Amino acid sequence: MKILAIETSCDDTGVAILEIRGDKKPVFNVLSNIVSSQLIHKNYGGVFPIMAKREHQINLPIVLEQALKESKLLIPNSQFPLAHKTSRRLISDEKIKILKKILEKENTLFESVKEFLEKYKKPSVDFIAVTVGPGLEPCLWVGVNFAKALSYFWGIPVIPVNHIEAHILVNFLNPSTTLRARNPKREFPAISLVVSGGHTQLILVKGIGKYKIIGETRDDAAGECFDKAAKILGLGYPGGPIIAEIVSKANNPPRPIKLPRPMMHSGDYDFSFSGLKTAILYAVKGKTLNEQTVEEMCVEIQQAIIDVLLHKTIKAAKDFKAKTIILGGGVSANQELRKQLAQKIKKEIPNTQYLIPDTALSTDNALMIAITAFFHKNKKASWKTLKAKANLRVGN
Ligand code: KG4
Ligand code: ZN
Repeated sequence: MKILAIETSCDDTGVAILEIRGDKKPVFNVLSNIVSSQLIHKNYGGVFPIMAKREHQINLPIVLEQALKESKLLIPNSQFPLAHKTSRRLISDEKIKILKKILEKENTLFESVKEFLEKYKKPSVDFIAVTVGPGLEPCLWVGVNFAKALSYFWGIPVIPVNHIEAHILVNFLNPSTTLRARNPKREFPAISLVVSGGHTQLILVKGIGKYKIIGETRDDAAGECFDKAAKILGLGYPGGPIIAEIVSKANNPPRPIKLPRPMMHSGDYDFSFSGLKTAILYAVKGKTLNEQTVEEMCVEIQQAIIDVLLHKTIKAAKDFKAKTIILGGGVSANQELRKQLAQKIKKEIPNTQYLIPDTALSTDNALMIAITAFFHKNKKASWKTLKAKANLRVGN
């Protein structure tokens, strides 16, 4: 079975193709996983949804072509060059009308999709998977409508995917862990910490598809805090990897700045990071920032975020007697977070299994959407019913 997956929930345009062999003991073979990160947002220190929507429209057909090519599934339509020269129609008026209707809010995408469908034959894939939420509404709709157009034209069913669940299930890519996942007694219950630019959630995972959000941020997400802190320090966007890089090069700098660890001992599983951002603003107010002070700030900012995340995750794992801790989301690319969580698990709950994605799969990508779709292939639907849901949640 092959799944073609599409991801456009924020500022990364992704298309991946995953081949799955076997059902009870599936073996995953990644045929392609193309991510085009939109550089335009670097200039603004954050993502502007309307700009991101425009970029997705430009990127999607290019990324799809690349993904199909890399998977050896891109088959040119031999009639295209001649038809193109003589203006002969390869798609009927009726089909053009429906495609136009599907992409009525993405008119630049309509033109390139039309050309793509004329130029290439239907690829041999069984399902089209697409992120329907949560995410930035205009961005989600581009991916959803793109998936609808392909699904309608090629007659391939679609599987709607929850982006947060995908950050969790990307951890089951490795065949050995996938096999373990088929033995719920060994894997679950699990506690998953999903930390991204838009979300910070602690999720009780009772099994694949069985979730309960036990805690989440009441204001900013952890990744958002990294991004806002980097903006205050004039470091650029996205802030997480920039701050992490500065910290990794800092050689035990003095730590004169002390930042708060908001809600660390609140007794529940919720988070709050906006106070940390305010504390950073006050800490730099009136100061001239030089290389050393920026370094000191970055070390403290990263550690403050990590301390809170670790404390709550370990508490949740203990309280719910978790057999596994699963990390996911863009912030999980942070090496210090990965390392310190591993150390804390080893020290405090050594029998707990610890799953982390490949660093490249921590941040947004379409492969995680394909993996999640595989676990939910029974949710396949007609393109007609597909909708973007910006505030979609897991479980509950
Ligand atoms: O999951 P993701 O790619 O997109 C969303 O769904 O939001 O997460 C993006 C977030 C950004 O806030 C970015 O600054 C953060 O992940 N991030 C990191 C690192 N790499 C990405 N944060 C800390 N350390 C990193 N190495
Ligand atoms: Zn994400």
